[in-house]
Order: sequence, then structure tokens, then C-alpha cells
Amino acid sequence: MSRSAEFYGGNDRNAYLHRAWMRRGVPDHAFDGRPNIAIANTASELSPCNAHLDEVAQSVKNGIYEAGGIPYNLPMVSLGETTVRTTAMLWRNMAAMAAEELLRANPVDGVVLLGGCDKTIPALLMAAASVGIPAIVVPGGPMLNGTFRGRPLGCGTDVWKLSEEVRAGGLSADGFRATESSMIRSRGHCNTMGTASTMAFMAEALGMTLPGLAGTPAPDSRLLEQSHASGRRIVELVQLGITPGDVMTPAAFHNAIVALAAIGGSTNAVVHLLAIAGRLGVELTLEDFDRIGEGVPLLVNLQPAGEHLMEDLFRAGGFLAVLHEVRDLLDPAGMTVAGRSLVEELPEGGIWDHDVIRSVHDPLQADAGIVVLRGNLAPSGAIIKPAAASAELLRHRGPALVFDSVEDMKARIDDPALDVQEDTVLVLRGCGPRGYPGMPEVANMPLPRRMLEKGVRDMVRICDGRMSGTAYGTVVLHVAPEAAVGGPLGLVQDGDLIDLDVEGRSLQLLVPDEELRQRIPSAKLTDGYASPVRGWEQLYVDHVQQADSGADLDFLQGATGPGVMRESH
Ligand code: FES
Repeated sequence: MSRSAEFYGGNDRNAYLHRAWMRRGVPDHAFDGRPNIAIANTASELSPCNAHLDEVAQSVKNGIYEAGGIPYNLPMVSLGETTVRTTAMLWRNMAAMAAEELLRANPVDGVVLLGGCDKTIPALLMAAASVGIPAIVVPGGPMLNGTFRGRPLGCGTDVWKLSEEVRAGGLSADGFRATESSMIRSRGHCNTMGTASTMAFMAEALGMTLPGLAGTPAPDSRLLEQSHASGRRIVELVQLGITPGDVMTPAAFHNAIVALAAIGGSTNAVVHLLAIAGRLGVELTLEDFDRIGEGVPLLVNLQPAGEHLMEDLFRAGGFLAVLHEVRDLLDPAGMTVAGRSLVEELPEGGIWDHDVIRSVHDPLQADAGIVVLRGNLAPSGAIIKPAAASAELLRHRGPALVFDSVEDMKARIDDPALDVQEDTVLVLRGCGPRGYPGMPEVANMPLPRRMLEKGVRDMVRICDGRMSGTAYGTVVLHVAPEAAVGGPLGLVQDGDLIDLDVEGRSLQLLVPDEELRQRIPSAKLTDGYASPVRGWEQLYVDHVQQADSGADLDFLQGATGPGVMRESH
């Protein structure tokens, strides 16, 4: 018996209650056992990248009806990356938990996951993985290219560049403000290869979208066509009994990691994929990203690693054309919700602009995988994205300049008396899952004004937080364990020598062990922010895990499954 039939079937009082209150125009045949489908909809005007998803939901609905299913719009917790405080990542697990419980509690047999802005697709995938009912993802798509005075403007990436130009004195405050509406000129999520674009592609590489859907621009009518088709397909997935665990297998995660390198995707994909795998019981480790991604070429010339934007990528052939170039590296066992393997879906000869999508014989970079660093400064690992870093800084030794919190960094970074040189290693701590709390995107901290004025545009930065997928620079991030739980990052002092060797996968604090044992961890990590005392933040700090296991809550790992709960009526 299907889940919905367990609620609606029969003639007892409970079935009456379930059916009668749902009627209000819903026809009687909705309760005859046909698939009831939730549309997990993160539309919200306060989550601007997802504000258009109600229209997408309508197309999904049409497809569900056409295939004989019954759709229900189910509003979800939505997170606007640029607006919510204290950081959207604090709420990812809450959104995932709310989605999981709503899907489990309601009479639905399958779900269409509508997301866009950074945390929304990861949260929905985590939830669907834990509930285990058939699911399909419809990414809301990127916004159109921005342009300003004849040059392309990429969301996020150009904000970082322009704001550094202002700080360096090369752009006025008025000029900076004038770029705003040129940068964000349509519906959709960020148009760079930031986290939203990356996670849409990760969903597709994992097999959870109809092939070719991710990356379709939000205003493009083909998004609605594909949304309609996704509505039709979820009804079939329910009839076939295909669940997220059948699709998101180890082979699918292998394919996602290959894809992540080939597109030059966001480092945030690492924590999100680890968290999704943790829900499914798939054994995925930090080392898998390094091992599988090693030697995968960077093929997509998009900001922040390159020049173009998501609309260009779609025009040039899209994600499947990229994957076709690296098809020999993909695992042919990785399936998609469409019913065929990902490899079988790859088109021959589908690149229409070789400047945007490079051939495997002419890559932007030969080796674009995310590198995992270990050493006495990161015993549980840290990561770096060489594709977004400066080649000359990948082997670097320099003295530390330490900031104990975001507030400390902001207060001192432009101090003319700051003791900083070009080879200084900037260390920012107190930004991990527990320390901030919520692991904000601050690792790509701004360069000291003194350095900008000298023409310096990149320095080695090390942090236990994350960085925006739209950011760039030689940034070591996700350092684990974080300083706030006693990680060695909390022992670093100004002037300590730090050695970074990306090729050697090493991050070392060149201080004798004996001296380190005698040091007392910094006590100033939470200065500038009052510790949480209640509510979600309290639950979060009590249970969040470190970055190397996906920063999920310990009690949310794994699955409860789709079983219908006990009844209170
Ligand atoms: Fe929503 Fe970038 S702020 S995707």
C-alpha cells in the first residue's frame, strides 16, 4: 500500500478526517491510490534567488496532473544567501530537518525538490535522502548575464573585485553602487560558478535531475518545459519505486566529484556532498575528493576561475557537453532519475563555443581537483581549490598574522599600523561550525589595505570557515578541527611560520611540538558575539559536526525512512 493510501484508504474515522479536510476542490479520485506528490517549494520573496519558483511549481504541477498524479505545493524553509543572518549555513540543517519531518508527516508518495539559492538544494537533498521516498530535483536556474559599461558582471565574484577596487582607491562609492542593478538583472540564482550553480550541477551529476536541466537560465522557457517533464517523471518514479538511495550511489558521488573538478565548482560542494552521503550511509571521505578529482581538467571558463557566466555555459552546450569531455573518468554505474546511466545521457559533439567549454585536450587547467591538506595545523584536514588560487602561492612559507574572529579582522584589517608584509599568512579563526556558529563564508577575507595599495592582489589565507563559491584566492579553508573545539589553529600566534605545500598536501605550523603543548588556546574566539543561549543555535552548537564530516548534526545522520507515523486522532 502506498503512503498516501495508508492515510486516505478505508472508511474509518481517520480516513474520513484525512480525506474530508483535503477536499476543497480536490476530486474524489485523488484518494483512490494514485501517486500524491509534494512539491517542496523554497519560493520566498525574502529568498530572492528563489522568488520565481511558484511559476516553476505550476509547470511541475501540470506535469504531475498529466501523468495521473495529484500535486500539492508544500512551502519549505527558504534561505536567501545574501540576506539571512548570522549566516545561511547555520540554517541549512534546520531547513533539512524541517523538510524531512514535513515529508514524513504528510500523505505523500514522492517529492519534487525546487531549490536554487546556495543552501536550498543541499538541504532538500539531505531531507529526501533521509525520508527515502522517490524524489527529483528541479533547480531554479541562474539569472541572465550582467553587464556594466560593456563588460560582463558576475554576481559575487565581481562584488569582491569591485569592493577591493574601492578600497584600493580605483573606484568611487557611487560607481560601485551603480553596478548593483546591472549585476542582478533577472530572476534566478547567481550566474557565476558559485555554490548555487555548483549544487544544481551536483544534483544532476548525482542523477537527481532530468539530464540537461541544471544550468537552464531561470527566465528561459525551457526551464518550464523541463519542469513539466520533471512533474511527469516523478509520477513514474513513484510507480517504479525508485528512491534517492537507488540513484545516489557511490558511483553517483564519484561522478559528482569528477564533475566538480571539471566545472571548477564551489568548495562548498565538499561539505554538502559529505552531508548528503552521511544521510544515505554512503561512505564518502574528504580524501575521496582529492583522489577522484586528481588529474581532472578544468574545462569550464566561468567566473570565478575564468571569465564567462552561466548563460554562456548554457549557450555553449551546457553541463552534459562538459561531462562528455571527461566521460572516461565517470563511473558508468551512476544512474539518473530518467532511467539511464549518466554516461548514456552524454551528447556527442555538443560544444558550440570552445572558449566557454574547453576540450579535454585544451583545458583551462590540467588538474582542477580540490586538494586536501593535512599537517599539524589541520589534523582532520583542510581544503584548497587550486583552480581559484595563485599558482606562485601554492608553495609558500610565511609568518602568521592572526585574527580571532570576523569582528577582530574587520576592526584591524585596514589599520595602517598592521604588521603585515607580502609574504604574511593571514589566519582567521573562530569561524568553524561551532565557533561562529554556522561556518560562515569569510575565509576569503579582504586583503589589508596596505597590501592593496602596494598592488598585492592575493595572499595566503587560512581559516576554519568556508568561502563563497564565487570567491577566488589562495585560501585554505574548512580547517578541522576548528579552533573553537580545541584545534591547533587556536594555538597560532603572530609571527609563527606557516608552511603551505599544496602539491605535497601539507599544512604545517613550524613551531616545535614541545612549545605548542605549552601554549594556551586563544580565549578571544567569541569576542564580538554573544554565545547562543537558546533555540536552534543552542541545538546546533551542541550537535554540529566538523567540516570533514559535512557539518551535519550528529543525530540527523542516516535515515529514518518513509514509514507512516502513528496517528493521534
Ligand atoms: Fe542566491 Fe548567490 S545569493 S545564489
